[in-house]
Amino acid sequence: MVFFKGKVSVILLGVSFLVLCASLSVAKEDLQLRQCKQLCRHQPGQRQFDSRHQQECESSCEKFATENERGRGREEEEEREERSSPRHQIEREYTKCRERCQEREEGRREQQVCESGCEQKRVQQEREIFRRRGDDIFGRKSEDEEEDEEEVGGEGGKPYVFEDQHWSTKVKTEEGRVRVLKKFTKRSKLFKGIENYRVMIFEANPQTFVVPNHWDADVVLFVAQGKGTVSLVYTDRRESFNIEHGHVLVIPAGVTAYLINRGNNEKLILVKVINPVSNPGKFESFFGPGGDNPESFFNAFSSDILEAAFKTPADRLKRIFSQQRQGAIIRASEEQIRALTHEKGSHWPFAGGKRSSPIHLLRQSPKESNDFGTLFRVDSNDYNQLRDLDIAVSFANITQGSMHTPYYNSRATKIAVVLNGRGYFEMACPHVSKSGHKQQHHHHHRGERTRRGEEETSPVHYEKINSELSQGTVFVVPPGHPFVTVASEDENLEVICFEINAENNHIFPLAGQRNILKNIEREAKELAFATSAEEVDEVFKSQEEEFFFIGPRQQEHRRGFSII
Ligand SMILES: *[C@@H]1O[C@H](CO)[C@@H](O)[C@H](O)[C@H]1NC(C)=O
Repeated sequence: MVFFKGKVSVILLGVSFLVLCASLSVAKEDLQLRQCKQLCRHQPGQRQFDSRHQQECESSCEKFATENERGRGREEEEEREERSSPRHQIEREYTKCRERCQEREEGRREQQVCESGCEQKRVQQEREIFRRRGDDIFGRKSEDEEEDEEEVGGEGGKPYVFEDQHWSTKVKTEEGRVRVLKKFTKRSKLFKGIENYRVMIFEANPQTFVVPNHWDADVVLFVAQGKGTVSLVYTDRRESFNIEHGHVLVIPAGVTAYLINRGNNEKLILVKVINPVSNPGKFESFFGPGGDNPESFFNAFSSDILEAAFKTPADRLKRIFSQQRQGAIIRASEEQIRALTHEKGSHWPFAGGKRSSPIHLLRQSPKESNDFGTLFRVDSNDYNQLRDLDIAVSFANITQGSMHTPYYNSRATKIAVVLNGRGYFEMACPHVSKSGHKQQHHHHHRGERTRRGEEETSPVHYEKINSELSQGTVFVVPPGHPFVTVASEDENLEVICFEINAENNHIFPLAGQRNILKNIEREAKELAFATSAEEVDEVFKSQEEEFFFIGPRQQEHRRGFSII
């Protein structure tokens, strides 16, 4: 795009303004066109256009507007197609099937049997599509086929903030669901450094069982709600741990794990960060001990192989590997839950020297704490299992109406998941700009070149990335990027953070008692700020708190901005 120069670049500016507005509603179309044309007429910093260029500019506005409308038509068509897709038909049939079950009046048990028949049929139909099309069972494109839909632009926190539409459902049964955040690099190339990490939220109803499986990935999990028992199966032993809200646990790749929600009425919710061991950013679960749904990997082998391996006739094997059809998360009886609740672990020092039991993050002594908030943090020094993964886990509980100091991490990329409450965050970012273009392309618009023909790089500019936060919002803070998080006036904000690349990471606070600017020499301050060191000190010393402060008062702040 180096060739756009002078007046032509103004045409481009007008059009790119229209591109920016293209996502707005149809009703605003006329307004956009008018504004685009207006831009053709009055370009700040430019002399009046001569009329030929103005006409050219205006007609590209019109051309773009019509094309844009056609584009919208296409989208609608695609949506219609989507609705008549086989996947939707299966869903419709399934809903009807279940309704028919519920109309029958033979008692709860019979209804359940009937409903699981529906579920079974659905799974079979989905497998059929899967075979025909090579897609996965949800009819989604596999990740490789997905286009690189890179999003840039500071508006609405993009691309650093992830909301409902950025998750996909991996497992869904009557008793629970598992959602995975899409691959970071699918969102933006800016996340190359954390490409090999994924985020998952697991939810299971009370008194349920997750069937045994292993993954080709290491997992760090935080218990965000509820109580459970996790069992990890090794060749020489089994370790079972009771977990509850606040626990952090590492499940190493390849270890077969199963899990219960032992709560009576609370959901068990786990937030997981997943680190695949071989295929960057990709992982799978492998179900062995099980049946038809989820499909056991044993079913992939020829029956004569299985007969030989287990010294058991094929029909018996077929029976054992086909009976479980209720999905990966299933209901268990009270007695079964009670029996699975017993703890059996290697708490003592003889068991290989490694502490694999979970650590209670919220019972550690806080790293920061005052009236305005509390910060807990564990890293590989507190919990050995985190060492190989190079991950630290922290939990911030920001008091209502308070904030943490603006700070940056030296090496770690922070993946933050909002667990409770509301608030917002702001971050300074040199990589994106409001106009929706990547910062490094900025200077092309100006088309300025030095005499020797090199491009002149525009001075660095930091765009404000900002977004409201509420339960389930995920946001990412790369190293070096200063940011703040503020709790709403009426609720505490609770955020769990996974710091990737945590080894030797340092937090550098930019305000408060330990802010780094206090350690700058007098002369350096005077030169940097071009004012007296006293004046600078007054500013940087007046905040007497550390790390957590009272936040901006709502009325002075973001008038007209609703923190719903
Ligand atoms: C967060 O702090 C509030 C009050 O300061 C407290 O009631 C709440 O339990 C804390 N949350 C957690 C998860 O510790």
